[in-house]
Amino acid sequence: SGGRIGVVGSNMVDLVTYIDRMPEAGETLAAPSFSMGHGGKGANQAVAAARLGGDVMLVSRVGDDLFGEGTIRNFQESGIDARHVRAVPGTQSGVAPIFVELSGENRILIVKGANEHLLPADVEAAAEDLRRCSLILLQLEIPLETVYHTIDWATREGIEVLLNPAPATPELDVGRVLAATFLVPNQTELAIMTGLPTATREEAERAARVLVEKGVRTVIVTLGAEGALLVTAERVRHVPPVTVRPRDTSGAGDAFIGAFAQHYVRSRDIEAAMAWGATYAADSITRPGTQKAFADAAGFEAFRAGLTGARGA
Ligand code: RIB
Ligand code: NA
Repeated sequence: SGGRIGVVGSNMVDLVTYIDRMPEAGETLAAPSFSMGHGGKGANQAVAAARLGGDVMLVSRVGDDLFGEGTIRNFQESGIDARHVRAVPGTQSGVAPIFVELSGENRILIVKGANEHLLPADVEAAAEDLRRCSLILLQLEIPLETVYHTIDWATREGIEVLLNPAPATPELDVGRVLAATFLVPNQTELAIMTGLPTATREEAERAARVLVEKGVRTVIVTLGAEGALLVTAERVRHVPPVTVRPRDTSGAGDAFIGAFAQHYVRSRDIEAAMAWGATYAADSITRPGTQKAFADAAGFEAFRAGLTGARGA
């Protein structure tokens, strides 16, 4: 059955408005449609891995409100071990107002709420269960102290860590995350972490190499419509994109990471897991929403079968 995946991260309720264009300051504008769904980078990655059959536990915090109750129910329904998802009295659940344009391009605001209360002590409290994981996923929608603490703890325990340094923040102390086994930034996050240009694939490779030279074992740069780039001390590999017509790209990075993790803990094959993640992310952007757009194992199998057919035709 393979390894267990632990996620120490955020959850949000996504409030997605599909727009023709953003209103100007002081302007009121009608928009075509709205959809509410479960999101948050930690939760999205956990749900993607679990929908594909991964064995997933989550450490997260919700508010003592209706969104929090619904969020915990959603984890349970997704087959995630949510015993370490708790409500913080007197707080609001995290929410993310998201605006999606016709092109599929998205703009996301996050109000972290209860996610700000996920502290190092909460990771300690979950340590006995986290110890049974072979890979721990982290993002940056919880306090940075909790991220640093989890990396240090996992390193001492000999557990591999994947850090997705998202959303990009100049506050991240890069020196404190170099022990992560995997660092998975997009181009913006990589530029902020290194202070280097990352617009082209060559630039991204050079910037990733700087992190590898500082001690990160494996850097995987997600390149959006260009696929993904693997950079380690020994090799550089480009995983080509799976081209689809995008409907809503929000959550694509999370789909990639959740699927990557689910494949990797079984296969230990980084390149195969990247191709798996890229394909899962491509499928997800053909549908609106974040978690709502993540396929289960059967749905993903059907998408993959369609790709093979198209190539053979
Ligand atoms: O990565 C996409 C996610 O970012 C959304 O689900 C939103 O909640 C924000 O956390
Ligand atoms: Na989507």
